[in-house]
Amino acid sequence: MTYAVESANDLRRTHMCGVLTEADTDREVVLMGWVQKRRDHGGLIFVDLRDRWGVVQVVFSPEYSQEALNKADRIRSEYVIAVVGRVQKRPEGTENPNLATGAIEIHVAQARILNAAKTPPFYIEDGVEVDENIRLRYRYLDLRRPEMQRALELRHKAAKTTRDFLDGRGFIEVETPMLTKSTPEGARDYLVPSRVNPGSFYALPQSPQLFKQILMVSGIDRYFQIVRCFRDEDLRADRQPEFTQIDMEMSFVSAEDVMEVTESMIAEICRQATGLEVKVPFPRLTYQEALDRFGTDKPDLRFGLELVDISDVAAGCGFKVFRSAVQAGGLVKGILAPGCGGYSRKEIDELTQFALTYKAKGLAYFIVTEDGLKAPIAKFFSEDELVAIRTRFGARPGDLILFVADQPTVVYATLGALRRLLGERLDLTKDAGYRFTWVVDFPLLEFNDEEGRFVAVHHPFTAPREEDILLLASEPGRVRAQAYDLVLNGVELGGGSIRIHRRDLQEKVFEVIGLTPDEALEKFGFLLEAFDYGTPPHGGIAFGFDRLVMLLAGRGTIRDVMAFPKTQSASDLMTDAPDKVSRRQLRELHIGLDIQKVDK
Ligand code: AMO
Ligand code: AMP
Repeated sequence: MTYAVESANDLRRTHMCGVLTEADTDREVVLMGWVQKRRDHGGLIFVDLRDRWGVVQVVFSPEYSQEALNKADRIRSEYVIAVVGRVQKRPEGTENPNLATGAIEIHVAQARILNAAKTPPFYIEDGVEVDENIRLRYRYLDLRRPEMQRALELRHKAAKTTRDFLDGRGFIEVETPMLTKSTPEGARDYLVPSRVNPGSFYALPQSPQLFKQILMVSGIDRYFQIVRCFRDEDLRADRQPEFTQIDMEMSFVSAEDVMEVTESMIAEICRQATGLEVKVPFPRLTYQEALDRFGTDKPDLRFGLELVDISDVAAGCGFKVFRSAVQAGGLVKGILAPGCGGYSRKEIDELTQFALTYKAKGLAYFIVTEDGLKAPIAKFFSEDELVAIRTRFGARPGDLILFVADQPTVVYATLGALRRLLGERLDLTKDAGYRFTWVVDFPLLEFNDEEGRFVAVHHPFTAPREEDILLLASEPGRVRAQAYDLVLNGVELGGGSIRIHRRDLQEKVFEVIGLTPDEALEKFGFLLEAFDYGTPPHGGIAFGFDRLVMLLAGRGTIRDVMAFPKTQSASDLMTDAPDKVSRRQLRELHIGLDIQKVDK
């Protein structure tokens, strides 16, 4: 890379590489792009030239230009070049049917090297097997790969469709602040120190929840925003510290109205972004039904393997583990693993270990044979009980049935996770399409043992069902919320609710979750005060935009549909953020560091 690169200022690109076809034959073109591959056939050099639109073969030959051929000799992978040449049909027998431009090639009359490139640390091609940290460190190279470019295009299309659709329904996009007030409830905040207000901090928004409610008080009526949100939580495949929501809020609506608009929007996004037709309305499950049948409020409906309750049989059986679980107010439920009756002792032990990580105390099982249910625990059951269990599962010889006996939360968590594991292991999710479901009738509050108080299941601005309001004082745990989640293939895509719009009710809910009136005023006074000035009934929802695009793109992590995501430890490997700052910056912010121990 010691020689001078050339200028292309006198050239104007005429076409994108990937769009040329036989119809362009004989056309003089100017192309610019990256060298995907260079093949030297001794006196004849072929280069696959790439841009976002695809790849085209360009040919250097003394027949077309000796000077260009000499230059092609120096070209390497990922060099940026410009070529002037003529589109020609490829000689018969050399066409490449796997390439959109495979019927033609460019005979090069002139070439320029616009920028040289070092050998990249991985191939710029789909499906590279390289450590993700290297992809993130060299994200600009990673994003050159066609599958990443398709993902970003899909993301753009989904955002554009969202805006067009909501605009058509009378929504307007309103921006809300990024420097906001830290409020309790929710995840941990990212804080930003204020230089001009020593000792005070802004919080980056976890969502624009309160601003969008205030916009309803302002009479905006239909708001949306494609907006960045920030949460300092433990990261996973579908969780990032900063992520994007499609955030919506509407006035004078019921839960039905919000669900109707949003499922039409999702169907339109699927149609425009991927050509996929999804049927609306989406099916609905109540929260309790989702737990009972799938062990989770995020059920993957692409396959069956539903949980089966045998608590009634267990209550009277001779197996103490089962009997005492029911006596203690718990449940005994099981799941049928079809065709897994041949699992070895070791495989069953592995499943048991898996169950223990969800706090189960064990994993009981039966192997289904021609002669009935077999297992070390079978001796504790009567013949009638064994037949009843087998019938209830519709079990056939060769199947395996797995059971957990415990308090409901443990039974649901364990069997829900086991169901997901089996669904994947038995390949039941492959090619099963897109299965949406609403989950409704969530409880408003749940008791948090660690904090010793009730906390909001969704957020504390969610309205209780009218008929349950009186229970707030007596049995808060039984109050149902006017909340709804949208789930796709086992992933929570979005969630929302009808909100509280009366000051007295909002104050009551704050009280039930343990905020004193003073704390409520200090933290949420602006909301309570706004409610005093004519607030319309309102409700809304927010979708995880990264998650939606991830599922539409068929990827396994939202990192693959974000241009510059962060790692598990919330760092950006390309820019090296977060990073230390100078003493002077800290002094200006009135910040002194007190780092005793850094857990990494
Ligand atoms: P909620 O907290 O359920 O609701 O968030 C809405 C949706 O945002 C997505 N999401 C995330 N995506 C990626 N990384 C994260 N860390 C992350 N956290 C959440 C999920 C989730 O369903 N203001 C309310 C909505 C409302 O009531 O209108 C809210 O933010 O897909
Ligand atoms: P034990 O009585 O501990 O020998 O357990 C007999 C079988 O029951 C083993 O397969 C255990 O994994 C299983 N088991 C123990 N406790 C539970 C439980 N709470 N739920 C389901 N299975 C259990």
